[in-house]
Amino acid sequence: MTNPIEINNLYFKYNANSDYILKGVDLTISKGEILALVGLSGGGKTTLLNIMCGIIPHIRKGEINGEVKLWGKEIKDLKIIDISKKVGIVFEDPDTQLFLPTVEDEIAFGPENLMVERKEIGNRIEKVLKMVNMEDYRYENPNNLSGGQKQLIAIAAILAMEPDILLFDEALAQIDDDGKKRIKDIILNLKRGGKTIVLVEHHIDTLDLADRVLELQNGKLREFKGW
Ligand SMILES: Nc1ncnc2c1ncn2[C@@H]1O[C@H](COP(=O)(O)OP(=O)(O)OP(=O)(O)O)[C@@H](O)[C@H]1O
Ligand SMILES: [Mg+2]
Repeated sequence: MTNPIEINNLYFKYNANSDYILKGVDLTISKGEILALVGLSGGGKTTLLNIMCGIIPHIRKGEINGEVKLWGKEIKDLKIIDISKKVGIVFEDPDTQLFLPTVEDEIAFGPENLMVERKEIGNRIEKVLKMVNMEDYRYENPNNLSGGQKQLIAIAAILAMEPDILLFDEALAQIDDDGKKRIKDIILNLKRGGKTIVLVEHHIDTLDLADRVLELQNGKLREFKGW
């Protein structure tokens, strides 16, 4: 059976003269799994997520050696548009992901780029706002929302592209406790719906969501034994 993500002996550096950040990463993630990645700042967690969603090398350059496969297909051979139908990424700061005048526009943006038809986009807007419990904010300007609410909209905007793999890069870090709880519930619901999830997190109370926790250390992944 093919897995959503399979990485074999991945080596990565940002440019020819720099040191390797990833030095032989092996990782297989199963469908429906919640995997958490931890590790020291600067260890390469964000770099690894950016490779899993094709930002590296399609948008940001770098030297990749080894295999990175999405549902059995080498990511370097896929177009960024095809990758974005399969993998979505949510960053720490929702302001970097929101830039349109209304919540509705924000959510429509991804599917529009994927050439989804208008009626279906309407359906998806309703569906994802319901999933994040933000139906009342459809016509709101994202600038008027709290940090936690903005992050819910950033998540909804990613869900509207219907990816089956979701990456969260410290997406709960700047969110208040109520927002954290809501996002954790959403993540668990996504898992129940068969989505595959990778979380980069520092906080022990978020790690309890995970089926498995791995630590990125000296460019390699290993079982996490606690701090
Ligand atoms: N675009 C870039 N060009 C060159 N080097 C980079 C680039 N982005 C990150 N780096 C370097 O790569 C290393 C890994 O960074 P990365 O952001 O992946 O670590 P991280 O584990 O996500 O850290 P944090 O926990 O602070 O978010 C760091 O030494 C960083 O300075
Ligand atoms: Mg990071």
